[in-house]
Amino acid sequence: MTIPWWRDAVVYEIYVRSFADASGDGVGDLAGIRERLPYLRDLGVDAVWLTPFYPSPMADGGYDVADYRGVDPLFGSLADFEALVADAHELGLRVLVDIVPNHSSSQHPWFQAALRGERRERYIFRDRTNNWQSTFGGPAWTQVADGQWYLHLFAPGQPDFNWREPEVHEEFLDILRFWLDRGVDGFRIDVAMGLYKAEDLPDLPAVDEQAFGAARSPVWGQPEVHEVYRSWRKLLDGYPGERMAVGEVWTDDPEDLARYVRPDELHQSFNFAWLQAPWSATAFRKVIDDTLATVPFATWVLSNHDVVRHRTRYETADPGTGLSRAKAALLAMLALPGSAYLYQGEELGLPEVKNLPPEARQDPVFFQSEGKLPGRDGCRVPLPWEASGPSHGFSPGGTRPWLPQPEEFGALSVQAQTGDPASTLEFYRAALACRREVVEDVPHAIEWLDSHEDALVFRRGSLVCALNCGTDAVRLPPHESVLLASGPLAGDALPPDTAAWLQAPPA
Ligand code: NOJ
Repeated sequence: MTIPWWRDAVVYEIYVRSFADASGDGVGDLAGIRERLPYLRDLGVDAVWLTPFYPSPMADGGYDVADYRGVDPLFGSLADFEALVADAHELGLRVLVDIVPNHSSSQHPWFQAALRGERRERYIFRDRTNNWQSTFGGPAWTQVADGQWYLHLFAPGQPDFNWREPEVHEEFLDILRFWLDRGVDGFRIDVAMGLYKAEDLPDLPAVDEQAFGAARSPVWGQPEVHEVYRSWRKLLDGYPGERMAVGEVWTDDPEDLARYVRPDELHQSFNFAWLQAPWSATAFRKVIDDTLATVPFATWVLSNHDVVRHRTRYETADPGTGLSRAKAALLAMLALPGSAYLYQGEELGLPEVKNLPPEARQDPVFFQSEGKLPGRDGCRVPLPWEASGPSHGFSPGGTRPWLPQPEEFGALSVQAQTGDPASTLEFYRAALACRREVVEDVPHAIEWLDSHEDALVFRRGSLVCALNCGTDAVRLPPHESVLLASGPLAGDALPPDTAAWLQAPPA
């Protein structure tokens, strides 16, 4: 059996606004990404996923799309996109783009027509509202001039499409074709469980029953959505070269997650249970068992542009713990069967930036919660490429980036870490190189080995991975040699917050 490229791929998420700015306006762009592709090739990833770069009023950082077939001038042009894809392919990197089918921007021509009273059935307009809340805070309904209300599960500038309207299906198939024809290798599907709502839009018994992605909610995960992905799969399969789709599916039920990853539906779905698990061997083990028992093609993810960076999530009162755990979690993740999604900056060990001033914040979560929630800007601060300078090399010249970078970003920059064997960046490079060498040859299944209850120890053929989530050192399992460790080992002991890859002893 030939293994499709995406099954074990390491995919690097590029949050386009914050990766690299070539134009000098303080916002990342496609030309900036293109210049930095060799960095990604050298890091050792297989593919990149680009967050939305389409024309957008930026009510939600580009997840409010006004034209699904273009490039916002802020990010460049279609020609820049085509050049980026060509260069990436030349370097052996695949390219995934983000597709946003749950909602458009309120500036989209269809919504503008709906406001004029034309073809409102393409969105969800009603005379009366229900008690649903926006995921970002506040009511999920906004009233228009003639008194009707429209549904938006996110910002008011993101009206939800009505997927019960056939024209929406045709439109998205055409949009997918547009990007497939430009050579993209696949799609990341935004809010993939959101497209359909229960037909009668019932009130929720209590507002807190609308937990984002709850499997049994009238808001999310309606069965009709699977037909959409069946039709998308047919389209993808009709193109040469293993085009794929990964769904952003938030759900509290692994069986529900698995329904998106069927042979005639999506190829993959993000496995957020891994990211949501606390620092605990028992919790990690449960997620791994549940995932491998239900999902044929697993994925693993620790961070993305919507969550607090995992270095900060894992932080304790003891300084340094967060980074040690982040590196250990990476080794465990990269040893698991399936594909891993990295988020830009985690290879530098970037922390969440918690002290952004209110006037710098841009995330609608901050505004819709009336400042009660900090929002997601703290994980979106532009990357530091150089140790010094007004933008740490993010923008050319003296331009300041769209979100301010903290002082500590200098020491965490690519320049400061490159060549330092003790750095997080060189650790990521070593881990990804080692994974390429080892993982191709080991079985896809894992075998749990006996271990201390605070440790996670599993084997895949000749590779053994041990992770210590406890507070005391544990003994390393029998091994021939140590391939890589996330921190210093003490002889045969694996210290707390550390992971190691071991060459198994001969059978
Ligand atoms: C998920 C995206 O990752 C997030 O950034 C966005 O705000 C929502 N979907 C709405 O599109």
